[in-house]
Amino acid sequence: MSSNDHIVMANESAIVEAALLLKQGRLVALPTETVYGLGADASNPEAVKRIFTAKGRPENHPLIVHIGSIEQINDWAVNIPDVVWRLANFFWPGPLTLILNKRPEVPLSVTGGQDTIALRMPDNPVTLSLLKAFGGGIAAPSANRFKHISPTTANHVLEELGSEVDLILDGGSCLLGVESTILDLSGEHFRLLRPGHISVSELETVLKTKLSNANASGVRTPGMMAVHYSPLTPAYLCANERFSGTLDKLAQVNKTVAILAYKYQPISKQAHFISMPERSAEYAQSLYAALRELDRLKLDIILVEQPPETESWQAINDRLGKATVPIEF
Ligand code: TXA
Ligand code: MG
Repeated sequence: MSSNDHIVMANESAIVEAALLLKQGRLVALPTETVYGLGADASNPEAVKRIFTAKGRPENHPLIVHIGSIEQINDWAVNIPDVVWRLANFFWPGPLTLILNKRPEVPLSVTGGQDTIALRMPDNPVTLSLLKAFGGGIAAPSANRFKHISPTTANHVLEELGSEVDLILDGGSCLLGVESTILDLSGEHFRLLRPGHISVSELETVLKTKLSNANASGVRTPGMMAVHYSPLTPAYLCANERFSGTLDKLAQVNKTVAILAYKYQPISKQAHFISMPERSAEYAQSLYAALRELDRLKLDIILVEQPPETESWQAINDRLGKATVPIEF
């Protein structure tokens, strides 16, 4: 859709309007510190259903419920292990989602039919005010169409969902740029389901224990499928040492290439490139916007240069791994 009259600057009156819309069962896109979310009243199954329709997402994919205070965990979860309070006090508001056992009355529509619930208190002033004004939990997946790149600006949301969303609260660019770390505390063993800005070692420090299977295989999480976070242009991941050679080979077969560079210095005739920041925090912040920009060029291929693979790059490499496939030559 071309009109942008769904986007409003997130001032006090817009927040009041957004809370009202949520109470009426409508959809409101909201800024968080990670990515923009597509929000609905988590206690209203009709409203939650609208999220799945708008995104084109299968209904067995569970949603994260965003809450405005730590105490609200009790409204959604039962059998809460003690460590939850320690984690929430340490990391919330912040980019950490906790999977807990749901209260029996929590609608299955929001949990994708599972008996566990994902909870997070986001660290964004607009959305914290909205949560306060609204009072309840806001179910919000990333505000993109199913399997697409997550939005990190209000305009990205408009590009993705257009008139499917009743209001887009513009809170500027998201500060972190990759989705929250997801930690499953619902069973006997605590497991990392999705790496994010909060690292495994930070979690283990606060947990005072090691995570089991602390990797991002995520096979038990329905939303963690191999193809996800993808541009429409076929995207490939390539090591720095092989980058120039690969570009030469692609040129020989007349492929047009958009380049997401890290160390590689593009030569002048390679017009379609973005050089990414050297540090992981800035790289993460700009990653999705950069992929969108390259995708918009509609070239044959997006070639992504492999960034470092140390711990602070774990979330970035997880998302790159899902957005790309390794290049064959
Ligand atoms: O940073 C974020 O987490 C953003 C912002 C908007 O908060 N939200 C987000 O939502 O990334 P979404 O729906 O795109 O991803 C949520 C992930 C999905 O992979 C889903 O499968 C997983 O959380 N999830 C939700 N509930 C779950 C549950 N009960 N058990 C296991 N995984 C769950
Ligand atoms: Mg998502």
